[in-house]
Amino acid sequence: MKQIIGGNWKMNGSGLAALEFLREMKRLGSGSVSTEIVLFPPFTILPLIADAAADAGIETGGQDIFWLEKGAFTGEISPSLLLDAGASWFLAGHSERRHVIGETDDIVRRKLQAGLSSGLRGILCVGELIEERDAGRTEEVVKRQVEYALRDLECVSNENFVIAYEPVWAIGTGLTATPDEAQRMHSLIREWVAGISGSDFADNTRIQYGGSVKPDNAAEILSMPSINGALVGGASLDAENFMDIVRAVPLQD
Ligand code: PGA
Repeated sequence: MKQIIGGNWKMNGSGLAALEFLREMKRLGSGSVSTEIVLFPPFTILPLIADAAADAGIETGGQDIFWLEKGAFTGEISPSLLLDAGASWFLAGHSERRHVIGETDDIVRRKLQAGLSSGLRGILCVGELIEERDAGRTEEVVKRQVEYALRDLECVSNENFVIAYEPVWAIGTGLTATPDEAQRMHSLIREWVAGISGSDFADNTRIQYGGSVKPDNAAEILSMPSINGALVGGASLDAENFMDIVRAVPLQD
């Protein structure tokens, strides 16, 4: 399975910084790796970098998406606007959307469905809060998030659907799940996906790990058998760091 490394810039960067980043990524060889690389800059940067990203062998995506195509929804970005901006991917359910902005499982599911139906490819982000982990509820929470999003989902395939397991307590904190803990959760997520979509689909679903992935911990994480890539926040803002993570992907078949 081809690993996929995402760079989520969140509300950082600028058009100029993104162009410079892509030039640097290209110089560092982003165009000649077999790993899929996707950059999620702020929406406003997407159209500016479409050509430079393609030139560097990097796909682009929106950090969020709205579930309707058009209308009176001030501030929202529809699937077709994302496509128009040159994006081919979107994130749904990032923990900052769930826990800072207040998105529910239902909203995340609508976004996922709308994006996939439009021809975009989506990364469904799931993960537990520290309070949920401390209360021993990690499995219950992540299972609910996965099942709610996936049950009866249409237009979904192994090409257009990726899951990112990101324990919320590990995001931007410098803390990471140990590779064994992450591997265990990824195997469970695969079982839950199999319960809904069958084991064939589950075996071919790419599941990324996210939460303080850095050049110095990436190799260990990315070599776990059930981990098929990473969703990287802070360390994706610097091309050298991000390429070090891309290069930490073990040789693939
Ligand atoms: P981080 O963010 O790498 O800065 O922890 C990960 C994410 O939010 O996807």
